[in-house]
Amino acid sequence: MFEHLLVEEKGQIAIVSINNPKSLNALNSATLTELNDCLAGIEGRKDIRVVIVTGAGPKSFVAGADISEMVDATPAEGRAMSLLAMEAFGRLEKMPQVTIAAVNGFALGGGCELAMSCDIRVAADTASFAQPECGLGILPGFGGTQRLARLVGEGRAMELIFTCDRIDAQEAYRIGLVNKVVPKDELIDACVAMADKILSKGSYAVSLAKKSIHTGLDTDLASGLLLEASNFALSFASHDKQEGMRAFLEKRKADLTDF
Ligand code: CAA
Repeated sequence: MFEHLLVEEKGQIAIVSINNPKSLNALNSATLTELNDCLAGIEGRKDIRVVIVTGAGPKSFVAGADISEMVDATPAEGRAMSLLAMEAFGRLEKMPQVTIAAVNGFALGGGCELAMSCDIRVAADTASFAQPECGLGILPGFGGTQRLARLVGEGRAMELIFTCDRIDAQEAYRIGLVNKVVPKDELIDACVAMADKILSKGSYAVSLAKKSIHTGLDTDLASGLLLEASNFALSFASHDKQEGMRAFLEKRKADLTDF
């Protein structure tokens, strides 16, 4: 049903693959529109609780925004493309589902920005990362100047963006750009194993924790702490809170179902 995406569902996990093999999964407007539509379809579903984002094929996660589409674009078209990507990538950040980037190769420009929009990044040992935009006479436009600085600190973000240096998975791990590095052939299994572990916890509580972390990072500490207190209170109204705590006291496995 999508031209530029592959979507596979495994129980409560949806695996969304960017599928533009001829351009190493570069993101054109049509792909961004489909990604936005796909995520909009998933975010209201209760039966899908984790989304894994990856790139089709053996070599590339996403090699960036599509340069052949941008080469003749006007400033207004550039802005529209940026806002379209921001809408789609923002969904990954805001949706109640946990989002995991399975970075299976090149994560360059918009590819690194897509990975950074996910809650967690797992990289194949063959993956590489860069923000090469300044070498093309533009700057990162799918959130890179904001999310890279938040993830790895402003000094490292400035160095990566100004030099356009490409770094390997180990270096990305060292600076905190990715959560873990696994052998290439084990990437999806590792992401599914992480998803299964998260799914064994209270999905509603996880979604409240996600919201608290993301929203809190965009505000001051005092407001973030108040938000945490409100979400903590919301979790006290759930079936899972009753079940989780009673199961602990009764020394049995909890049956957590809320989302
Ligand atoms: N846009 C359009 N086409 C791309 C592309 C991109 N971002 N990346 C790769 N391709 C195309 C190539 O043009 C090539 O097409 P043809 O077969 O028709 O020639 C095909 O994919 C395969 O690429 P290469 O032959 O270059 O493969 P390689 O293995 O030698 O090199 C690479 C791989 C290092 C990823 C190299 O393709 C490359 O540097 N790509 C561009 C990376 C880049 O600059 N990304 C940032 C884009 S700007 C951006 O993302 C802005 C933003 O903030 C959103």
